[in-house]
Amino acid sequence: MSKKNFIGDDWYKNVCIYQVYPRSFCDSNGDGIGDIRGIISKLDYIKSLNVGAIWICPMYDSPNRDNGYDVRDYFALQPEFGTTEDFSLLTAKCHELGIRVIMDVVLNHSSSECEWFLSSSSSERDPKRDWYIWRKGKPDGAPPTNWEAIFGGSAWNYDAKTDSYYLGTFSPYQPDFNWENAELREALFDVLRFWLERGVDGFRLDAINFISKAPGYPDGMAGPNGLAPIRPFVCNGPKVHTWLSEMKKKVLSPMHAMTVGEADGSSVEDAIRFSKEIDMIFSFDHVALDIGPNFTFNKKIPLPKLKSILSEWQNKLRGKAWNALFWENHDQPRIVSRLGDEDDLRAVSAKMLAAALFFLQGTPFIYQGEELGLPNTRFAKRTELRDIEMCNAFVNYVDTGILSQEHLMRFANYKGRDTGRTPMPWDGSPRAGFTTGTPWIKLGDTHRTLNVENQDADEHSVLNWFRTLIGFRRNDRVIRDGEYRVYNIDDPNVYEYTRLLNGSGYHILCSFCKDETRYVCGFEGTKTQMLFSNYGDDTFSETGKLRPFETVISKAELP
Ligand code: GLC
Ligand code: CA
Repeated sequence: MSKKNFIGDDWYKNVCIYQVYPRSFCDSNGDGIGDIRGIISKLDYIKSLNVGAIWICPMYDSPNRDNGYDVRDYFALQPEFGTTEDFSLLTAKCHELGIRVIMDVVLNHSSSECEWFLSSSSSERDPKRDWYIWRKGKPDGAPPTNWEAIFGGSAWNYDAKTDSYYLGTFSPYQPDFNWENAELREALFDVLRFWLERGVDGFRLDAINFISKAPGYPDGMAGPNGLAPIRPFVCNGPKVHTWLSEMKKKVLSPMHAMTVGEADGSSVEDAIRFSKEIDMIFSFDHVALDIGPNFTFNKKIPLPKLKSILSEWQNKLRGKAWNALFWENHDQPRIVSRLGDEDDLRAVSAKMLAAALFFLQGTPFIYQGEELGLPNTRFAKRTELRDIEMCNAFVNYVDTGILSQEHLMRFANYKGRDTGRTPMPWDGSPRAGFTTGTPWIKLGDTHRTLNVENQDADEHSVLNWFRTLIGFRRNDRVIRDGEYRVYNIDDPNVYEYTRLLNGSGYHILCSFCKDETRYVCGFEGTKTQMLFSNYGDDTFSETGKLRPFETVISKAELP
C-alpha cells in the first residue's frame, strides 16, 4: 500500500476532508444500500472536490441498530458493503489519487452481538466479564443508577443470566466497554493496528470522550421521567487522557495515524488537553444554538453568540491545538435549513456558509451533499424514519403521551439525523443515480433539480464554488497559520473577520441575513483585490449595503 506521496504527520492542516456516509453514497449492485464499489466508482468525483482525505462512517460487520455504530466484528466488513478485497482496492485507489483514508472507529462500545459481549455476558467467571461494565441492581432491584441512555430509556440493561445490569450509554444494543481493563484496551489497540496495516491513514474516534465514567457511579438529578441525563457522568471522565496517551504511545505515534475525536460536551480547555493525545476534536457548541430541551428548536440563531463561539475556538486554540471545522455531519441536519435559506436564496446562502467556515483556521470537514447545498429531507410520517434516535423518541415520548406526534415530527424534520442521511443525488433520474433498486431510506425531495450532474455543468453552482474554495485553501499559508480577528462581534447580521500573516491576508465578510442589511466595515486596513463574491461581482461596491446572504472575500493588507 504505497503512501509515498504523503509526507509529514501534519498533512491534515493543509486540506479539507470529505465525509462519506457509505449506506447512502452510491450503490453498485442494486440492493438499495451504498457500498465500497460504489465509493470507488465516485473517487474521481471526490478527487474533483480538491479534498485531501475521506472519512468513511463505520463499515464493520454490524446488526445496524445504529447504522454501523454498533460493531459486531471489528476485523470484518459488513457483507452489504463489500469484501476485504474491495476495501484494499478502495485504499489503493485513494492513495493513487492522493486521497488519504480516515476510518471511523467505535471504541466506547460494541454491538450487543459482538462475540466479546456474548462471552462477557455468558457468566460472571468468563475471562471477558470485565471487558464491559457490569453492576448489581440497587437493593430494591432498581438499576444501579438513574442515568438515561442517549437514545432513551435507562442506560442500564438487566441481564437475567447473571442477575446483573450492563451499561449502554447510547442504547441496549451498544454496551459500553470497560476501559479500566488492560486486556480490553489491548484488544482495541489491535483493532487500530489491524486497519492501519491495511492501509488506512487515520481514525475518526467515535464518542471518544465517553470512555471514562464518573467514579462511584452516582445518581443524577432526575427529570419528569425519573431519569437523569447521562452526559455529566460519562463525558471527559478522569481517566480519558491516561488511556488516550497510552493509545498514542502504543499505536498512533509509531504508526503515524491521524486522529479526530468526537468529543461532545467539550470546552476549549478540554480541546487543548486532548491535543496532547489526538490531533483534533469535534465539538458541538456552534451547532447547538437552535436546539432547546424536550425536542424543541428555535431557528432564530443569535449570530453574535455563534460568532463568539467560533471566535473563542479560533483564539484560544491558536498555537495550542487544532480546530476541526464543520457545519454538517451524519448526525446533523443540513446547514442551509438551519442558517441559510431553502428557497430562492439557497445557493447564495450555501456559498456564504461555506466561505464563513473555510477561511477559519483548522481542518474543514464536508459531509456528502453539503457541497451541493442540499436542504433537509422532510419525512411525512414516522414510518419513513430510520434513525434509532428518532424512532426511540417516538416510542418513549409520543406513545407514552408526553409529546404530540406533530411536535416530534416537526422536530424530526428540523433536527433529526435522517434529514441528511438520504441518498446522495447523482442525477435527476427517478432514483437519483444512487441505485437501480429500492433505496434503504427515502430519497430526498430535491434530487430532480439539485444533483451532481446539474451542478457539475453549471459553473456558478454551489458545487463549483466548493471546488474553487477547497482548492484555494489547500496549502495556503495564511489560511493555515494566519492570525484570526473578528470585527463588530455584536452585529446581529454580519460576520466579518480577517486572517493575516505578517500584515497581509484575507478579509471575509458574510451576511447571515435573508434581507438586505446595512453594514460598516470594522477592518481598518485596505482591501486590495476581490477574490470571491457569491453574487458574481468582480469589483467592490462600497455602498455599505450587503445583499441577502452576501459574502465577499478580499485580499487585505494592514496599513
Ligand atoms: C456518535 C456517532 C453517532 C452514533 C453515536 C453512537 O455520536 O456520530 O452517529 O449514533 O456516536 O455510536
Ligand atoms: Ca449495494
